[in-house]
Amino acid sequence: MTSLDLRVATKTRVADGVVALTLEHPDGGRLPDWTPGAHVDLVLPGGLTRQYSLCGDRWDPRTYRIGVLREPDGRGGSAYVHDVLAEGDTVAIGGPRNNFPLVPSERYLFVAGGIGITPLLPMIHQAELLDADWHLLYGGRTRASMAFADELARHGDRVTLAPQDERGPLDLPERPEPGTRVYCCGPAGLLEAVERRAAHWPAGSLRTERFTAGNGSTPARDEPFEVVLRRSGVSVTVTPDRSVLQAINDAGVGVLSSCRQGLCGTCETGVLEGVPDHRDALLDDAERAAGDSMFVCVSRSRSDRLVLDL
Ligand code: FES
Repeated sequence: MTSLDLRVATKTRVADGVVALTLEHPDGGRLPDWTPGAHVDLVLPGGLTRQYSLCGDRWDPRTYRIGVLREPDGRGGSAYVHDVLAEGDTVAIGGPRNNFPLVPSERYLFVAGGIGITPLLPMIHQAELLDADWHLLYGGRTRASMAFADELARHGDRVTLAPQDERGPLDLPERPEPGTRVYCCGPAGLLEAVERRAAHWPAGSLRTERFTAGNGSTPARDEPFEVVLRRSGVSVTVTPDRSVLQAINDAGVGVLSSCRQGLCGTCETGVLEGVPDHRDALLDDAERAAGDSMFVCVSRSRSDRLVLDL
């Protein structure tokens, strides 16, 4: 993953508890290209890394924009951005990386909850450029907490704003029109509601992105399992108290990682044999069933042995 030191060009309050940062290269140069749905890792003091979706103009090669919600129960990353980071400061970023790509379609339904609007903004821009039919359902606690609502106003009735204190919970469709791709990003409660609805939709119509780790279930097995690193010729035993990532790194075979929560995609590793116990928030059902890749920071094994492409 690319690592860059960027300068905070602007820092603007865009809603209650949300600031937008624009980041640029200190020498004004071009930034790595990205596509709608991509995020960057912000590397903060103390080694904290946080993922933020790029929400600016994908065709502007010199500026990234991110939106940062202050999370009172967070681990300090958003508080640092809100309270300390200032215009003119330098911040390290990794990426961009895209785990939430927009696939071509004639029709899209975008569903955002709160700060989950950020990856959807460039998707909407792209849908406009491609003259696709699209609609956005955007929910938030209150109108004042809904970032970028003013930018969206120009799209008229393509956008449904639903502040919860005025209109209650988002009114999700029973079934989207045939051929619709649904992209949803927001808090766990919204994603779970959309996933429940999508159980009756055609397979593959829904893509979601989580901002918090979504898999709190008990691992499939509580006994140790063996992980064989085929290219390195190393075999390690993963006990219930360690992650596959820790076991691999302790064996001296480095795997890059960032969030360590199954959210960012950095530690993706190919699976050659065995059945992973997927515990990330990135793969869809078909990718899980294929079983040929896993995120070793959180995912484990259902089989006695996993063979990885490392
Ligand atoms: S380190 Fe982020 S998904 Fe594993």
